[in-house]
Amino acid sequence: MILLDGKELASKIKAEIAKEVAAMIDNGERAPHLVAVLVGEDPASQTYVASKEKNSHDVGITSSIYRYSETISEHELLEVVDFLNLDPDVDGFIVQLPLPKHIDEQKIIERISPEKDIDGFHPVNLGKMMLGLPCFLPATPMGIMTLLDRYRVETDGKHCVVLGRSHIVGTPISILLSRKASPGNCTVTLCHSFTHDIPKITREADILIVAMGKQHAVTDDMVKNGAVVIDVGVHRIPDESKKSGFRLTGDVDFDKVAGKCSYITPVPGGVGPMTIVSLLQNTLKARKKMYP
Ligand code: GUN
Repeated sequence: MILLDGKELASKIKAEIAKEVAAMIDNGERAPHLVAVLVGEDPASQTYVASKEKNSHDVGITSSIYRYSETISEHELLEVVDFLNLDPDVDGFIVQLPLPKHIDEQKIIERISPEKDIDGFHPVNLGKMMLGLPCFLPATPMGIMTLLDRYRVETDGKHCVVLGRSHIVGTPISILLSRKASPGNCTVTLCHSFTHDIPKITREADILIVAMGKQHAVTDDMVKNGAVVIDVGVHRIPDESKKSGFRLTGDVDFDKVAGKCSYITPVPGGVGPMTIVSLLQNTLKARKKMYP
């Protein structure tokens, strides 16, 4: 079994980004600038945004957090988006999800200029992704594609089973892996809450991508010998032995499943760091005006 070490690969890619940013600055150019808009006090969102800020600084990308109370109105948040769309010193920005219930997330996403949409959530970017045109890819699916690419995992002609059909992960990764490309060229089965007999389908997977949001939902009896398993889940388990008071685990029961796999991602240290580094790659791309 080979561990798909997202932490190690992310730090390698960060070094590549840092080199490019340093060269830009030596050349008298402004560093790339990423903004994260954070509404409310959701602890997971705060952790993600803090991590985006730290990782940006590690590679020389300027990062700002715009914080708003959860009482901000939809209209006011749309004005923030309009402002960021026009700010020439901001290359790309994200609005951290989820947003409070009184704000229509889709309306906010659609207001972001596609050229600054480094999350790749705007319908223009998702549409271009579907057509295989240059665009910003959503960070988690992009990170998974980079892992498969850099570890040279064979995907041509493989049966890929995706568990979960979210707009952020399941649906885009199913499109990316079925495209005529490398990585890609898979036959993809997308499973969801209405799918009958999921274990029967997962046992036929050469590549299994799990993004269900359900702790340890995938057990060893659901995995074929030699499969590639990618775990997108992140769950906090109370653990008094940790300084933070919790440890992280995934949607896959790693200890039971790992022995059957050819490749597997750990949690933490698998897909998570790759998601963050993909956002940095998108920011650099936005700075270089490589869009589209
Ligand atoms: N919430 C959970 N994941 C994400 C992400 O990738 N981007 C944004 N904006 N919000 C999220």
